[in-house]
Amino acid sequence: MKTFLSSRARRLKPSATLAIAALEKEMRGRGIDVVGFGAGEPDFPTPSHIREAAKRSLDRGETFYTPVGGTPALKNAVAQRVRDDYGLDYKAEEILVSCGAKHCLANVFQAVLDPGDEAIVLAPYWVSYPEMIELADAVPVIVPTREGTGFVPDPEEVEARITPRTKAILVNSPSNPTGVLYPAEILAELARIAEKHDLLVISDEIYDKLVYDGGKFTPFAALPGMKDRTILVNGVSKTYAMTGFRIGYLASTRTDIVKAATNIQSQSTSNPASTAQAAAVEALTGPQDEVARMVEVFEKRRNLMIEEINKIEGLSVVKPGGAFYAFVNTSRLYLSGKVSNSADLARYLLETRHVACVPGGPFGSEDHVRLSFATGEETILKGLERLREVCQELL
Ligand SMILES: Cc1ncc(COP(=O)(O)O)c(C=O)c1O
Repeated sequence: MKTFLSSRARRLKPSATLAIAALEKEMRGRGIDVVGFGAGEPDFPTPSHIREAAKRSLDRGETFYTPVGGTPALKNAVAQRVRDDYGLDYKAEEILVSCGAKHCLANVFQAVLDPGDEAIVLAPYWVSYPEMIELADAVPVIVPTREGTGFVPDPEEVEARITPRTKAILVNSPSNPTGVLYPAEILAELARIAEKHDLLVISDEIYDKLVYDGGKFTPFAALPGMKDRTILVNGVSKTYAMTGFRIGYLASTRTDIVKAATNIQSQSTSNPASTAQAAAVEALTGPQDEVARMVEVFEKRRNLMIEEINKIEGLSVVKPGGAFYAFVNTSRLYLSGKVSNSADLARYLLETRHVACVPGGPFGSEDHVRLSFATGEETILKGLERLREVCQELL
């Protein structure tokens, strides 16, 4: 019998991060003591005042459809948050609430990209960007960044890749997987390029609150002249340990795009879950002290992880200024011939030492694996000890 799959479905790769998490869970289910460095989510419980808000919403009987693009209360909460934190003003019609930042991004790509259009993606990139762009039948144009320059993009290289088909630049700072927070002068250069070539900037700011060493996060829309060409994308998943609630939002003065993205959502998923929206209102408007506590713990764990990695012969790493990932260069281990790329190494680590990490290949770098420090200090020490053994074995 012929295949009934579309060429689009056949081209699509499953999310590598979710796949490793599933394997890790399955091994744990078999009673294996797996050290998990795969997590793409905080390991803290969702703060109790947020969980209580979800319960109260249920008890009020808010269990029906809401407006497609989010409840007025949540749009207000988003507007208030962005205004208070960054001095950016958005009206309700300039905001869309979706089932996670991922869903916002998917909606935007569908709303702005035509077949053959190009979108610039800086590598290493979050695994889903190129796939989501291809799902819109458009072309992700991958511009590399390098470890030697701290994974900070070279604006000249970005500009050199712009063609008449380029429609957008995707910016993700702090970055998944490198954790790099782009310096202000690089953001300014990217803004200059966007202006000069009349490009849309899609700015994924999901890690805006997870910044260390007193670093300053600047939303792209706050750069001079950028508000009207930026789609600000954020959500509650990472900041409030709410990944399962699936609430993300976008804000933009380009109401034609916001409206188109809302229409796309109206014909696919409709509104995000009503209970989750109520919880997100509480997250954005309620007490913020748990966020500060979480950031403090993440920073301590980051310091520990980077310090320990730097002691291991054969590895190198750029100290991440944000998010909760260390993107570790493991390329020297491939010289042994026992493993020859990041996927081989991730499998080797999992099978021989029960350490789960995410291979760098799907992030655009075979030379690296991603270790998450959204896990306890004991786990970090135990996992890195096992990684050290593997390095000794393979070097
Ligand atoms: C860079 C980046 N953007 C977006 C997302 C998606 O977040 P959400 O849970 O809001 O869909 C993630 C989650 O891993 C991420 O790392």
